[in-house]
Amino acid sequence: MTIQWYPGHMAKAKRQMIEKMKQIDVVIELVDSRIPVSSRNPLVDEISAGKPRLLLLNKVDMADSKATGLWQAYFSNQGLAVHLVNSQTGQGTSAIPEVVHRLTAARRARLEGKGFRPHADRALILGIPNVGKSTLINRLAGKKIAKIGDRPGVTTAQQWIKVGKTMELLDTPGILWPKFDDPEVGLGLAATGAIKEDLIDFQEVAVFLLKIMLSRYRMQLAQRYGIESLPDLNGDPEDHDELVRLFDQIGKYRGCLMSGGLVDYDRTAEMMIRDFRSLKLGALTLEWP
Ligand code: G4P
Repeated sequence: MTIQWYPGHMAKAKRQMIEKMKQIDVVIELVDSRIPVSSRNPLVDEISAGKPRLLLLNKVDMADSKATGLWQAYFSNQGLAVHLVNSQTGQGTSAIPEVVHRLTAARRARLEGKGFRPHADRALILGIPNVGKSTLINRLAGKKIAKIGDRPGVTTAQQWIKVGKTMELLDTPGILWPKFDDPEVGLGLAATGAIKEDLIDFQEVAVFLLKIMLSRYRMQLAQRYGIESLPDLNGDPEDHDELVRLFDQIGKYRGCLMSGGLVDYDRTAEMMIRDFRSLKLGALTLEWP
C-alpha cells in the first residue's frame, strides 16, 4: 500500500535511516526497471554517506530487456555497481551475496590489516514503495516475513536475516518516498503503481502511456487494440485530435462504452493502465537513458 508522505514523515524516516546506517556495510537500492530513474530518490546519496552501494534493477521481467541493458551500462558508467533481478521468480537474486561481498572487499582488507576478523556483510534494502522490497526480502530470507506497511516512522523490532554464507540482511526495508516534482516522473510512478490510485488521473496516465507506445512500442499497441493504422505523432506529439481518435478506437475495440454508445474515457484509460501493469501490452520500459 502506498501512503501519502508529509514533511514530518520524511524527516522522521530519514533520521531513522541515517541512524540505521551505523550498523550497515552495504546499501542495496532497489528500483523498478521500467522507470529506473523515476523510482529512485536522490536522498539515497545522503543517507548512504559514502558506504558501498548496489543498485538493483528489479522487475526485469516487466521491462524491455533492450532498455534494461542500456540502463545497466548507463549506471555502470556512473561508477555504480548494478545487478538485475526478478524478485518474484528469484532470477538473479542468488548472486546478491556474492556481489555485495565484492563491494566490501576494501573494508574487509582494512579490518584484516588491523588484525580483526571481519563480520558478515550487513546490508539494508532501500527504495520507494512498490519497487519490490518486501518481495525481495522474502525471497532472500527464503520465507515469508510480515509485510511492513509503507508507514514511515513505525519502529518495529528488526532482525538480521542470514543470506548465503557472507551476508546478513536487515529484515525491514528502508522506505523512501517517491519524488515527483517533475510531471513526467509522476506519470511514470503512477503508471507502475507507485502512487496511491486515488491520487492519480487515469486519463492523464493513459495518454502518457499511449505517447510512449506510439513512439517506441507501436506494434504492441496496434496488436492489443486491433488498430490497423496508427497515427504518426512524431511531427506533433501533442496532436490532441489524433490522441482522442485513438482513445475512441481503443475504447470501442475493448467495449468501454457508456449508454448511447459513446466511449467511456475513464474506463478506457483505466483498462489501458491495467493492461500495462499486467503485461498485456508486453514488457515495456517507460524511460530510456
Ligand atoms: P515494496 O515492498 O517495495 O512496496 O513492494 P512489494 O514487495 O510489495 O512489491 C510490489 C508489487 O510488485 C507486488 O505485486 C509484487 O509481487 C510485485 N513484484 C515485486 N518484484 C517483482 C518482480 O521482479 N517482477 C514482477 N513481475 N513483480 C514483482 P502486487 O500485485 O502488489 O502484490 P502481490 O499480489 O504479488 O502480492
